[in-house]
Amino acid sequence: MTIGASNVQQEVQQQAGKLLGHFAGYVGLKTIQIGLANGLFATLAENPGGMTPAELASSAGVDEFYAGVWARGAFAAELLEVDSDGRYAMVPHLDKLILNEDFPAYLGGIPIVFNHPEIFDNFSKNLKSGRRIWWDDASPEFIQAVSGTGRPFYNRLIPGGLDKVEGLTAKLQGGAKVLELAVGAGRGLVKLAEAYPNIKITGVDGDAHSVGVANERLQTAGLTDRVQIVTSPLEDYVAENEFDLAVINISMHECRDIDKVTVNVLRALKPGGCFIISDFPFPASHETMRTLPGRVLSGIQYFEAQIDAQLMPTSAFVELLERHGFKDVKGMDITPVHNLICGTK
Ligand SMILES: C[S@@+](CC[C@H](N)C(=O)[O-])C[C@H]1O[C@@H](n2cnc3c(N)ncnc32)[C@H](O)[C@@H]1O
Repeated sequence: MTIGASNVQQEVQQQAGKLLGHFAGYVGLKTIQIGLANGLFATLAENPGGMTPAELASSAGVDEFYAGVWARGAFAAELLEVDSDGRYAMVPHLDKLILNEDFPAYLGGIPIVFNHPEIFDNFSKNLKSGRRIWWDDASPEFIQAVSGTGRPFYNRLIPGGLDKVEGLTAKLQGGAKVLELAVGAGRGLVKLAEAYPNIKITGVDGDAHSVGVANERLQTAGLTDRVQIVTSPLEDYVAENEFDLAVINISMHECRDIDKVTVNVLRALKPGGCFIISDFPFPASHETMRTLPGRVLSGIQYFEAQIDAQLMPTSAFVELLERHGFKDVKGMDITPVHNLICGTK
């Protein structure tokens, strides 16, 4: 064999290895989705000492043979460990990472949202036509799943992220007026109102279904006296010197006219008021796109594209706020998939 031929063989093996890595990742993702959807992880979390497939099947109410197949798949994906008696248990911390929705590093929303056709299947279906959609074309289940994905972002933002802005916590505790843009299903409204019992909040969102869900959530939480929601495109929402804080979670990148929204926010804030964008830090370069967070965020871009949007790098948000006259603009990545950008009027 010539040296050239052996190089080619090595390259082929390397490329085949990468492809197998993608297929294995897909199997791991599907294994997580099956485990979440059928309560298998939840059952194992209640039995940290481990369970045989028969015990798992009996407790979770699934077929014993299938439970064994799933357990071995989950072991292969390093989600479970197994002892010498064939008892399977979750690997350390997995319960928090995929089951505890209030754990700051909760990741269990991602496999759920990735399972909906809106992201990958519909992108493939619309690829030829370039058909775009808006949130009112998305199913209620997808909106609920997106809201689940937003939850850890709110948990990191409130109060930890807000604490990072000097003087803001004291202002909020004293009874500030807060504007939340793009409230979605309303998790952030409830979290803000409960964290700061003296604030009054106005929420804005353009999707009537999401506003309906958010209003129900507010009613259940008994917060309708302090929180009101306006159904409007952010581009058309105008207020004057009214708010101490404006905040937007995982949505600023979606604005149809991001400059107009930024100008509206500047106008709506009181002098000294603060705008906080909490979003996904899309990689700024091709190199960083190949990191694990970069690859996951590239997946989210398939949905964003269908609503005529794309995730943006942190630096682009900083530049946006500076361009429109915000002062003391700072951008920071608080996790590899979560950034905070703040600026003052
Ligand atoms: C990804 S969801 C996030 C919702 C919520 N902030 C959360 O984290 O759960 C995006 C929301 O932004 C709203 N939205 C996006 N762009 C908008 C615009 N230009 N005007 C009004 N609402 C908009 C959508 O209707 C949707 O409810």
